[in-house]
Amino acid sequence: MSLPTDARTLYDQTASGWSRRLPMSLSDYTARPRVMVLCEPIAGERVLDLGCGEGYCSRELRRLGAGEVVGLDVSERMIDLARQAEAAQPLGIRYDVANAAQADLGTGHFDLVVAVFLFNYLSVAEMHRTMANVHRTLAPNGRFVFAVPHPAFAFMRQPAPPFYFDVGSAGYFSARDERFPGQIWKRDGSSLDVQLVHKTLEDYFAGLRLAGFDAMPTVTELAVTHDMVEIDKPFFGPLLDFPLHMAVKVTRA
Ligand SMILES: C[S@@+](CC[C@H](N)C(=O)[O-])C[C@H]1O[C@@H](n2cnc3c(N)ncnc32)[C@H](O)[C@@H]1O
Repeated sequence: MSLPTDARTLYDQTASGWSRRLPMSLSDYTARPRVMVLCEPIAGERVLDLGCGEGYCSRELRRLGAGEVVGLDVSERMIDLARQAEAAQPLGIRYDVANAAQADLGTGHFDLVVAVFLFNYLSVAEMHRTMANVHRTLAPNGRFVFAVPHPAFAFMRQPAPPFYFDVGSAGYFSARDERFPGQIWKRDGSSLDVQLVHKTLEDYFAGLRLAGFDAMPTVTELAVTHDMVEIDKPFFGPLLDFPLHMAVKVTRA
């Protein structure tokens, strides 16, 4: 198993493969539309998109009526692409380069913070720090919505298209905080390199509690649906019945 590089280098090197205006990769079908539903109500909200990449979710949030959208990402190249999309079709979104685990996100400004497949690039300690930053930057009754690879998925499936993480013979508990390579496919047959810094289920919910989120979260285990298989059976079929991603929504008191 080849050791992957850090997230910033990985995304600076592979940014162009992520650039898209329409659904393309597996998770554009299996995760992002469901995350948008969890984010509702969006109209008029002040939104922070952490680990925004080239801006796919930021643009969607703005199109769904968000009043203000700020996107932050550690990769300069991903932010370049997000700004190019903004210049080509202005939506009034601000994009900045920042490390979500270290940046000062300010206090009490945002109604909604989203982090779509950010935490699989952070250590447990970095994720907990980020969750505390998110709690601080949310206004009272503000919501935090994040999506991550399902904690069990990597241990259930051998490396194969259209999505995997190669954990080798690692164990669910002993692999905590270890970084593994993976790949996710697009429907055109090409693939993107991704990474998993493994966390247990407990790590996510301990982090939220430590950050100050006291309310019961909404947890959704995301999977391929039969509707997706009907659209493209060779692509979606191999993943039917696997828990692919976990989406969580929690409200700040
Ligand atoms: C799988 S991409 C997801 C991008 C976007 N959220 C989306 O759903 O299309 C993960 C993104 O997280 C960013 N990232 C990784 N570590 C980060 C960190 N510490 N701070 C900010 N962004 C980070 C990467 O540069 C990459 O753009």
